[in-house]
Amino acid sequence: MVIVGAQWGDEGKGKVTDLLAERADVVIRFQGGNNAGHTIIRDGETFKFHLIPSGILYPGKICAIGNGVVIDPGVLNGEIEGLRQRGIDVSGLRISANAHLIMPYHVLLDTAGELKLGKLEIGTTRRGIGPCYADKAARLGIRVQDLLDEKILRKKIMAAMEPKAQMLRPFAKDPMLDLHTMTEAYMTYGHRLEPYIADTARLCWDALDRGATVLFEGAQGTMLDLDHGTYPFVTSSNPVSGAACIGAGVGPADIDEVWGIAKAYATRVGAGPFPTELEDELGERLRERGGEVGTTTGRPRRCGWLDLVALRYAVRLNRMTSLVLTKLDVLSGINPLRLCVRYRHAEGAVFTEFPYHQSIIHSVEPEYLELPGFEGDIGGCRSEQDLPREARDYLSAISDHTGVPVVLAGVGPGRDQVCWIGETGALRPAA
Ligand code: GDP
Ligand code: IMO
Ligand code: MG
Repeated sequence: MVIVGAQWGDEGKGKVTDLLAERADVVIRFQGGNNAGHTIIRDGETFKFHLIPSGILYPGKICAIGNGVVIDPGVLNGEIEGLRQRGIDVSGLRISANAHLIMPYHVLLDTAGELKLGKLEIGTTRRGIGPCYADKAARLGIRVQDLLDEKILRKKIMAAMEPKAQMLRPFAKDPMLDLHTMTEAYMTYGHRLEPYIADTARLCWDALDRGATVLFEGAQGTMLDLDHGTYPFVTSSNPVSGAACIGAGVGPADIDEVWGIAKAYATRVGAGPFPTELEDELGERLRERGGEVGTTTGRPRRCGWLDLVALRYAVRLNRMTSLVLTKLDVLSGINPLRLCVRYRHAEGAVFTEFPYHQSIIHSVEPEYLELPGFEGDIGGCRSEQDLPREARDYLSAISDHTGVPVVLAGVGPGRDQVCWIGETGALRPAA
């Protein structure tokens, strides 16, 4: 079962993964890196995961970081240590030996690239994600398994830095770029991570072969996909469901379900087109009520109405079987509610499908369907019947326009603050 972001990230994938992980035997992250920030609030305690899969709060649950993820080993070590200090059992963690490593020069080059772009910046998380995936494609990457052999590690670092000499010249005095220091630091990380290094693809096959459930946890969101998103304002990996196969090492026939996670409205961090963005008081209200501040970088998130043109595009790209709508509670008291059903271009053209041309996406105006809003605190609702009729109608309209059933709605950040919709009993957590 694959969990993917259906918008621009931060849809609540962490919360949904945590919820479904109870019934899963393996949870595996398949792409992205510590640009991700997945929040889980359990019994009032907040956890933010950047690399570790969101199933780790179940003691002993196998939680794998797949080959498709890029790992900053310092960040991963910090995350492991932080969990241990909070008394969380991390014995179920597994790290793919084939996953690529984010190196100090990747982080420096990410920032340098953004500074060079100036006003045209992408607004990356500056975690070195793009340069690391670029090295992977150029076959200059350094992988987790390389941490286990000092000679190989040193050689590979030299080979990777050599073509970057000119770009790295401004950082020549940075102690972290010293070959000896870097090799030593990464060998130390390697020693700490060694107990968790494994063949994570085989681990998935074994689970699938015995009929167990594997949950593939995506990071980022469909509209940030390197191939299908709003390029170049995208991340450097593929957050769509198909990438679960590549990033974990399974085949398409191993996947039964694809759950797309969307907010009941829309947000985006960083630059790039966002047709339904609200740059007014209402946008500010959504930001404030939804606590819309980036989990990783602390940047305010841009807010807007739910965009069904983009969501239908995400439904098709991921071949979604179900939709989850989080943060429905945030819309309470807003009347009317709006859903973008088509775009209109200045020259009169109407788009009901997501346009492929970047200049068009930048200049379209959204056209909305208006629906009556609902009032009151819905944070205590636990079933479809508990929700106000207008809230149910809002969810139905989304299902109707996307052709995908909404199976779950979020009514608050807490783990139990969800309402199951329709006949999805078999997937509900046992507790
Ligand atoms: P992810 O990156 O997709 O895992 O999402 P993030 O954790 O970055 O951002 C989602 C934010 O919304 C987190 O702060 C969650 O605690 C919060 N959240 C998730 N579901 C709900 C919900 O149904 N209602 C409210 N109010 N907050 C939610
Ligand atoms: P989760 O998994 C939201 C955005 C950045 C920037 C673009 C490229 O928490 O949903 P990158 O550092 O990846 O090169 O930045 O992608 N971005 C995210 N936005 N949620 C995320 O992850 C994101 N990861 C990257 O803001 O616009
Ligand atoms: Mg996030």
